[in-house]
Amino acid sequence: MKIQIFENDVSLSIQAAEQLITTVAEKPEAVLCLAGGESPLKTYRWVVQLSKQNKVEYSKVHFIGLDEWVGIPPENKGSCKFFLRENILKPLSIKHDHFHLFDSMAEDLNAECQKMDKTISLLGGIDLMIVGIGMNGHIGFNEPGVSLDLTSHVVQLDEITQTVGQKYFSQKTHLSKGITIGFRHLMESRKVLLMASGLKKADIVQKTLEGEIAESIPASIIRTHPGGLVLLDKDSASKLTNLPTLAQTQTALPD
Ligand code: F6R
Repeated sequence: MKIQIFENDVSLSIQAAEQLITTVAEKPEAVLCLAGGESPLKTYRWVVQLSKQNKVEYSKVHFIGLDEWVGIPPENKGSCKFFLRENILKPLSIKHDHFHLFDSMAEDLNAECQKMDKTISLLGGIDLMIVGIGMNGHIGFNEPGVSLDLTSHVVQLDEITQTVGQKYFSQKTHLSKGITIGFRHLMESRKVLLMASGLKKADIVQKTLEGEIAESIPASIIRTHPGGLVLLDKDSASKLTNLPTLAQTQTALPD
């Protein structure tokens, strides 16, 4: 695993976008697994903006949605499906058969998990995952205490996730379960990019990177991934005792 620290969340997002673009340029039929949430939003916007220059072709890429709130319909703006559709899939004109998102309204959620596992396996595995980190150290909905060898699964959401998750919804929403890609997929993914920015993430970033590698802080597992890359801004890295030097990159999105 490598750690890179950036001046701000813009330079960090540009770096993440470059990683995504390079992955696709090198392998046009790449399989990308993407998170929703605030952390990767600027990255997706930047990928979309650069796609207008037609330098990279996305028509052969397969997109996998990292997770979803159980029982939240896709038209709800707080759903991961809505987020990914509006911010990356539609703008890149990705065809339906090239994106694979959990149907969290399905009656048989275990069948949804099996379908996702089969899809990933048929596609030859994930090339790049872009993920954020929750305030409790989760990745996707792999909550504290999760077993590290799970594939896709349904989980009871941690209290912190239920509370923090309200930020995505315009009104108070009952969030109790999630459906998510598991850590077996993450460990088998060729590259995993974990992004965190802002002071509010500083404590959990410190525990993740400098505490014990344990199920209690699920994201700490990234330290054992040879293709793990942690991208932080100065604020989220501010509690690290061994601060890596600042990466020299662009600090503002070009017009
Ligand atoms: C969202 C997801 C979550 C978020 C995490 C951080 O699809 O998988 O694990 O990545 O909760 O959320 P933000 O980025 O909103 O701080």
